[in-house]
Amino acid sequence: MEHKKFQMDYITLHTKHTTYQMGITESGFLLHLYYGPKAQGELGSLLTFADRGYSGNPYELRDDRTFSLDALPQEYPNYGNGDFRSPAFRLRDDSGVFGTDLRYESHRMIPGKYRIPGMPAAYAEEESGSCLKETRNSKYTAAYTLEVTLTDARTDIEVRLLYGVFPELDVITRCAVVKNAGNSTVFVNKAYSMCLDFLTGTYDLIHFHGRHAMERNFERIPVISGTQSFGSIRGASSHQHNPFFILADREATEDFGDCYGVSLLYSGNFKFEAERDQYCQTRVQIGISDEMFDYRLEPGEEFHTPEAALAYTPKGLSALSHIYHRLIRNHICRGFWKNRRRPILINNWEATYFNFTGKQILSIAREAANLGIEMFVLDDGWFGKRDDDSSGLGDWHVNEKKLGRSLAELSEEIHGMDMLFGLWIEPEMVNEDSELYKKHPDWAFVIPNKKPVMGRNQLVLDFSRKEVADFIFQEIAKVLDSIRVEYLKMDMNRSICDVYSALSGYQNYGKIMHNYVLGVYDFLERLHARYPRILIEGCCGGGGRFDAGMLYYTPQIWCSDDTDAIERIKIQHGTSFGYPISAVGSHVSAVPNEQTGRTVDIGTRAVCAMAGSFGYELDIGKLQAEEKAFVKEQILDYKKYWNLIHNGLYYRLHNPAKDREAAAWLFVSEDKSEALLNMISLDTHANAPAVYIRLKGLDAEKNYLIGDSGNVLNGNVLMHTGIAVPFHSGEYRAWQYHLRAL
Ligand code: DGJ
Repeated sequence: MEHKKFQMDYITLHTKHTTYQMGITESGFLLHLYYGPKAQGELGSLLTFADRGYSGNPYELRDDRTFSLDALPQEYPNYGNGDFRSPAFRLRDDSGVFGTDLRYESHRMIPGKYRIPGMPAAYAEEESGSCLKETRNSKYTAAYTLEVTLTDARTDIEVRLLYGVFPELDVITRCAVVKNAGNSTVFVNKAYSMCLDFLTGTYDLIHFHGRHAMERNFERIPVISGTQSFGSIRGASSHQHNPFFILADREATEDFGDCYGVSLLYSGNFKFEAERDQYCQTRVQIGISDEMFDYRLEPGEEFHTPEAALAYTPKGLSALSHIYHRLIRNHICRGFWKNRRRPILINNWEATYFNFTGKQILSIAREAANLGIEMFVLDDGWFGKRDDDSSGLGDWHVNEKKLGRSLAELSEEIHGMDMLFGLWIEPEMVNEDSELYKKHPDWAFVIPNKKPVMGRNQLVLDFSRKEVADFIFQEIAKVLDSIRVEYLKMDMNRSICDVYSALSGYQNYGKIMHNYVLGVYDFLERLHARYPRILIEGCCGGGGRFDAGMLYYTPQIWCSDDTDAIERIKIQHGTSFGYPISAVGSHVSAVPNEQTGRTVDIGTRAVCAMAGSFGYELDIGKLQAEEKAFVKEQILDYKKYWNLIHNGLYYRLHNPAKDREAAAWLFVSEDKSEALLNMISLDTHANAPAVYIRLKGLDAEKNYLIGDSGNVLNGNVLMHTGIAVPFHSGEYRAWQYHLRAL
């Protein structure tokens, strides 16, 4: 094939170890040239040109049949310019015609990192406000923005592509802003946050699928010819699929090989697409799902896509995870608690469900306080007529009869035990059997003349309407203002359908689901601003809305309703690829486990729960004296190691799909002076070979003292041969060894 030298202008972004380059052709097409290890120079010569049958040519280049956008890599492909692969952008005009031809107009570099109005976005430096100044400064602060403007001559649409470059983090964020600069209404029918076109290479797609109580299972599959897609139309990012994916070289491992990550900062409907085209080129893209999306834009109006955070490393999957852990911990999570040790909590849900009295609550709290637990969280059932899930949601008045006292008194009694106090809320929902629904039936998503689909006996409030979210905010604020409270668990317990907003004209139906998400973000932003010292934990029937967008408002998220320690190994393993350990809400619960019926000892339950933001969720008074003694020790251990756990480098030392005998993971301090090894035995066999766990990330030159055993092993030996799982210990036993460099 003949290589043509093509006249182009270039836009290049560099991070410390990566380079990203696009080229602007003479006709104004914005091509994607390169994303990979640091590179110098202009890379237009990477492109190949040939006369491709059935791949059309732009009108002005019709005499050069070697130029086709159907074959060239594009930066933000739009439907209508002759690229027949899946587009990132599709527009419909007011006469129903699809088709744009976006061309380069201008670009500029802007110091600092762009923000997105009303939506989460990674930041370089946190805005100082109230207590936010107190957070520890990250060393990765500098960032800059690239803005590239494209325009479509027919519709006068302007698309601004924004890139946030974090050089020290090796992260580039992207989003797009669509402006209707014309005189008539248009509909944004598809507008993804990012697209990456690869000229060559064979890749594996790694994604995280699951279900309620078994979220974020790791799956690695080859990218095949045609299109592969996953996403959510459930109104939340979902238990079933996660808006984070990795594109890895087929040979890439945990420790080596090209890995690209993309994390979408969005908590609603989304779609991912991978496409291997007729010339074996790969396109990956992610953004708001185009299903039931059709965003009406009046002249002068703008639409912002959510942000996607991109990272590349040639050093394998662990290194990629470390990039995302740092990014999310320091540049997405915000507020008072972002770098602080979170209080060790006890939650009453699995202890009592809806069935409790104030007296029982105080008794659990007292037992917990005696063992050193630092915060009591009162879960669902404290408000309205709520003794099961059939009623009460929407009525945010304290049920003093059930509590036998006011909530303020309960909170004071708990504070009197030297504990903090936390509360559960589910603001987005309403039961038909509630005062709120009787007064405002049109505030719920229900389609006229159609019986709504029910989920957990509840309906979804229309948070795309400001007055609805405002009312709920005021009601919940009244409660929060009347008590001492340090924590909120913000839950969301059903998927959304029957999307009908009583006040929207039919031309606005394609906006409602996105506006709903904006309503939720606004609600969270207001909570964050009004109660800056309250720690908010996200939740959605466990981990059904576990995404980087949510982590902007809630620095931790209840990872799963499955509290079985052995099941959690798999869930937390998958979660760790894209999310930091500090983000993972994880609790020790009772045995036999409520979800699986499995019994494992309290040590194993604690080792699993400590790989997260740690707590308990059981009637702690029912534990044996010996178990209570363990709990006291676990609390001291967690306090001792939390910094290593939350801020250390996390290494996955097993693969749940392959390693049947043991699970293991490791935290190593950035300076390699200490580490915390966690091992759990799984299947046990008679007369079996020893199972060695090989460590990672240690200082090869140093010797490490292993726990209080007195054993000393060299870093190289620990990484080459490892530590054996003790023999004959039975299944589901746990060991936690602290290693100190000598
Ligand atoms: C679902 C959550 O995941 C649980 O932890 C609990 O808070 C219930 N909702 C309460 O209804």
